[in-house]
Amino acid sequence: MKRILSVTLLLAALPALAQDLGTLTAETKKAVLPVIPKVVSAMQEAVAAQGVAGAIPVCKETAPQLIKAKRQETGWDIRRVSLKTRNAERATPDSWEVRQLADFNIRAANGEKPETLEKSEIVHIDGKPVFRYMKALPVADVCLKCHGPVDGMEAGLPAKLAASYPHDQATGHAKGQIRGALTVKRPL
Ligand code: HEC
Repeated sequence: MKRILSVTLLLAALPALAQDLGTLTAETKKAVLPVIPKVVSAMQEAVAAQGVAGAIPVCKETAPQLIKAKRQETGWDIRRVSLKTRNAERATPDSWEVRQLADFNIRAANGEKPETLEKSEIVHIDGKPVFRYMKALPVADVCLKCHGPVDGMEAGLPAKLAASYPHDQATGHAKGQIRGALTVKRPL
């Protein structure tokens, strides 16, 4: 029984190893990317219904919860990261992610549309193959309310943000810049 099980597991693993980058990318995008428009529309609705300060929980709780649900559904490591974090504890990128975020900024400066920026690669972590995927999160109009220049923010909001995030670096953005990225690590 044990042998049958291990043979079955081996056979199940083979197609994954044989998968090419294109297939892995397509599967990962299909599973993970629907989270992005969900967060953006939740944010637009919350700002309209509750005002800017009342919408803070969408970026603070709703987005992490939707990502957590995807993590549980897929078994993959999924996070939000940024070069200029508001919550450094949650969103500090590792060295591979830093490189891709820097590259996204260069690609955007060279004329690529921010909403199309993504990167896929198979890397080795501790000798094991891991598929990595990153998708840029551009700054839309609604994002500016909390990630735009501090002097343009609603009265009281800078103090409110500073109280929770004394080391906030996630302000001063312009529309179309890259706020951060959604990042996926999927063991093969
Ligand atoms: C109502 C205020 C508000 C708006 C509007 C807002 N955010 Fe945020 N954002 C926050 C807060 C607060 C955090 C910190 C969340 C946490 O504690 O993990 C955050 C964190 C993030 C992070 C995680 C990385 C980091 O810096 O900690 C990303 C990515 C992000 N926001 C993107 C966006 C995008 C894209 C939009 C527009 C669709 C947006 N935000 C709109 C308040 C906001």
